[in-house]
Amino acid sequence: MAIPQTVTIVEVGPRDGLQNEPQTVPIESKLQLITDLAAAGHRVIEAGSFVNPKWVPQMADSEAVFNSLKRRPGVKYTALTPNLKGFERALSAGVDEVAIFAAASEGFSEKNINCSIAESLQRFDAVIDAARKHNIPVRGYVSCVLGCPYEGEVNPALVASVTSTLLGMGCYEVSLGDTIGTGTAGSMERLLQELLATCKPEQLAVHCHDTYGQALSNILTALHLGIATIDASIAGLGGCPYAKGASGNVATEDLVYMLQGLGVETGLDLSSLIEAGNRISASLGRANSSRVATALS
Ligand code: HMG
Ligand code: MG
Repeated sequence: MAIPQTVTIVEVGPRDGLQNEPQTVPIESKLQLITDLAAAGHRVIEAGSFVNPKWVPQMADSEAVFNSLKRRPGVKYTALTPNLKGFERALSAGVDEVAIFAAASEGFSEKNINCSIAESLQRFDAVIDAARKHNIPVRGYVSCVLGCPYEGEVNPALVASVTSTLLGMGCYEVSLGDTIGTGTAGSMERLLQELLATCKPEQLAVHCHDTYGQALSNILTALHLGIATIDASIAGLGGCPYAKGASGNVATEDLVYMLQGLGVETGLDLSSLIEAGNRISASLGRANSSRVATALS
């Protein structure tokens, strides 16, 4: 199949990228990052999460982040909400869209959100109901689609079942999380073939952590199967606190470089992204993990 001519990149750096930082990230750095990302052309920025702050202290200031954002017209500022309490916090902070997050493995579901997959879907039903009343779109995530840190291999049929449940409940899109980055072009293709038997490509996004260096080839595989929404994290920041050793998402700069080479439109300016990534990396006191940013800086 021909790859999509236009791709939407969902920037998850301020949330997925910063949630796992060992040090406290000052709110000024978060706000600067979000401003830089919007200025570089991002139209969807996952700016925080309304989870239990005892579990993920780095996201405890999400209310303050949303309240202090300098909103750029045309940009959606989104957040994760694990339950109704999280949704209510997000609503009063003025988020444009929320995301619920399920898993395709019971072990990860218990560790990440302290309940079984079935229980999580019940909680999410309440979130979707409330979001519908307020006209807030809901995105879904499924974690561990290509492997689980607790259970190893994950059956694509289980991913397909959780994905179609989320879509049936009212998520407009489901992002498929390779949480620990163990997927390969082969396992990504097998997974998507299974999913595309029941879902349309425009209902799916991919969210590839780059722990094993496979993210770009997995994304290219997804593009060839018609997927046109891809999550990425500036400077390759991040990881998940409940997936030990998992590194960040594919670096936005690396993804944009590949898409430019394919002639795919993203609306993003690579040199502005590199500046944004270098600035947040410097403020965290570390090297930029994007290979492209490193090569071009
Ligand atoms: P729990 O402890 O089971 O919740 O947490 P609970 O309902 O029993 O409540 C316990 C306490 O938490 C209570 O407070 C609640 O009020 C409070 P207390 O009475 O003890 O003072 N509480 C909250 N506080 C603030 N905001 C809330 C909230 N909910 C309860 N929303 C819960 C259940 C789901 C909340 C918890 O397990 C949690 O916060 N988990 C989030 C974990 C997380 O953020 N993980 C990382 C994001 S997912 C990810 O990175 C994967 C992804 O990138 C895709 C991929 O890569 O695969 C999306
Ligand atoms: Mg993630």
